[in-house]
Amino acid sequence: MILNQWYVVMDSSQVKDRPVGVTRMGEKLVFWRDGTGKVSCLRDKCVHRGVQLSAGQVMDNGRLQCPFHGFEYDTSGRVRVIPANGKNTPVPERFKAHSYPTHEAHGFIWIWWGERPPEGLEPPRFFEDIDDSFSYGKVYDPWNAHYSRVIENQLDVVHLPFVHYNTIGRGNRTLVDGPVVEWVDDDQFFFYVYNRVDDGTPPRRPEEITPNPARDFRLAFIFPNLWQNYIGEKVRILAAFVPMDEAHTILYLRFYQKFVQTPLLRDVVNWLSMPFNLRIAHQDRRVVVTQQPKPSGLKIGERLIQGDRPIVEYRRRRQQLIEENVR
Ligand code: FES
Ligand SMILES: [Fe+2]
Repeated sequence: MILNQWYVVMDSSQVKDRPVGVTRMGEKLVFWRDGTGKVSCLRDKCVHRGVQLSAGQVMDNGRLQCPFHGFEYDTSGRVRVIPANGKNTPVPERFKAHSYPTHEAHGFIWIWWGERPPEGLEPPRFFEDIDDSFSYGKVYDPWNAHYSRVIENQLDVVHLPFVHYNTIGRGNRTLVDGPVVEWVDDDQFFFYVYNRVDDGTPPRRPEEITPNPARDFRLAFIFPNLWQNYIGEKVRILAAFVPMDEAHTILYLRFYQKFVQTPLLRDVVNWLSMPFNLRIAHQDRRVVVTQQPKPSGLKIGERLIQGDRPIVEYRRRRQQLIEENVR
């Protein structure tokens, strides 16, 4: 996993008024909301005797209290009160659990995964064209796969007529023109899909194609773990690839739309769309969980082809970010 990045790690609705313990980024983490509703995140291990803080409780003052001997943690991870030492005895600074910066927006919770957040840390990026005029349905789907493989599957245009031959890949469009990758900036790219029926002509090279964003089928990716499929101006599929550990990922899938605005009807439409989206995801999952090695990488001995261009671009940038952000 790439250090020093904002990762989507949960849906906002998963953290309510109690502490929540989850495995993310290969670590046990605890999330809770203080009195103002702000989410915080600590490593889920009491500095005193190693108990999981997520088994504790949120106090009226917004602190997280360990269930074993009552140490009280503030949102920065500092222990503020050790009851056995008395409420007026100052607590040394070294009584501190590691805290991760958190950010909540668009119904997602992010953490900045690293040791030392920079001064003036910028908030995480999201797709600017998804605003409040959209509503969405959602589902969480566990995969026994490294998150990089789950991402690459969503960048893979070559698999469509095979894995999805009876759903979104119908029509036997096995020949892959391009695809064209366009970087928006260092951490975001679009890619355009031009699959067609094999008529004996060779695939067009990416350089021979001029994409038209208004007409062509396109998708987008934001590092490290957000993806969007532009089904249309008013319909989108969004995915966050949430790493649990080196072998497990949760796919947070959302169906966004704005063609139905009536409150109740809107929710029904959003809800009804999810089984189909999940069916597509499970067509993918069946295959992706068998990939070896588990994590992707630049030099893992795969024989890639022209149609794998978006995967190659992803791998290159990922490798660069990994190298730039060593511990
Ligand atoms: S283990 Fe947490 S207070 Fe003792
Ligand atoms: Fe797929």
